[in-house]
Amino acid sequence: MNELNETRVLDALRTVQEPELGRDIVTLNMVRDVVVSADGDVAFTIELTTPACPLKDEIERNARAVLRASGAREVAVTWTSNVRRATPAQPQQLLPGVKNILAVASGKGGVGKSTVAANLAVALAQDGASVGLLDADITGPNIPLMLGVEGQPVASPNNKIVPLERYGVKVISIQFFVPEGQPIVWRGPLVGGAIQQFLRDVEWGDLDYLVVDLPPGTSDAQLTLAQAVPISGSLLVTTPQDVALLDVTKALAMFRRLSVPVIGIVENMTAFVCPHCGEATEIFGRGGGERFARQYDLEYFGGIPLDIRVRQGGDVGVPAVAQRDGGPAAETMRQLARTVAARMSVRAAQAAPILIVS
Ligand SMILES: Nc1ncnc2c1ncn2[C@@H]1O[C@H](COP(=O)(O)OP(=O)(O)O)[C@@H](O)[C@H]1O
Ligand SMILES: [Mg+2]
Repeated sequence: MNELNETRVLDALRTVQEPELGRDIVTLNMVRDVVVSADGDVAFTIELTTPACPLKDEIERNARAVLRASGAREVAVTWTSNVRRATPAQPQQLLPGVKNILAVASGKGGVGKSTVAANLAVALAQDGASVGLLDADITGPNIPLMLGVEGQPVASPNNKIVPLERYGVKVISIQFFVPEGQPIVWRGPLVGGAIQQFLRDVEWGDLDYLVVDLPPGTSDAQLTLAQAVPISGSLLVTTPQDVALLDVTKALAMFRRLSVPVIGIVENMTAFVCPHCGEATEIFGRGGGERFARQYDLEYFGGIPLDIRVRQGGDVGVPAVAQRDGGPAAETMRQLARTVAARMSVRAAQAAPILIVS
């Protein structure tokens, strides 16, 4: 029998695919620090493109199987991650430390955009990513309430605004700068100005993901954001009714015109699951999001059920994914965070072919 050594371990791991990227994990430069002991124990590190990788278990299972088949005894896998940027860093860029900007958008208000943005940000942070959340809904900021974060940001030594932090997420919202209960009645140009300031004057630091909660529709906020920074992807949120879908068509058209990649669509408030009997009732109809996705050639990320825990959590500052039992809606949003992160990794890999060795 051939003695197991580093080269043979790498040869074996060359048969393990990263299913999203469609290449093997050695070619993708994901395998690090291979150590083979005299007894044939193997230890190595796998570097993921996102800590929120939905395929971790599958990769590990396959890696273990091929190494066992090659004669390894114990197999120890360590995980690390290095989120790649979707767009190449440019020195003059506004947010040089931010690797991916994810915009959460919708056609109309009240579909759960802020809810999805807040839960995605917290879920990504829970998976170990460094995450920021920018509340770009300048006239209707909801993020502070949903995350239970209040206070006045202070200035950093280099005179930038230090974001507040909650659930491991750095948060900025116009709400931090206006007195409680005061309506915000700014017009277009001021809205754009505020967003630019949140990009330019906030100490975001190094982030794997900056999630942006956009206002509904097609307004100055979308325009300013798209023109100021490279958006890695936008996620459209809709409810199953047709009205919402009509509006989301306009939002989609705007992103396409601004060359912002739309990574897919998620349907929210898909069905109400009775907490007593478990029966699912499709209050707002069914299948709208999926039909829309098919029609416009977008990926459909499934439906988030209507769940009282989501609404209550949003009102008291504990998003569903941060609740001890957030229920199926929380689980769906956790999976959504991983899928969206995976799609952005694929885009980043395509944008930066340097990552592939040999
Ligand atoms: N899946 C859900 N289940 C129950 N309530 C939800 C769900 N998604 C959103 N909500 C509630 O619906 C309301 C509107 O959601 P919000 O995120 O503020 O929408 P938008 O940002 O699109 O205007 C909020 O009270 C929120 O808690
Ligand atoms: Mg909102």
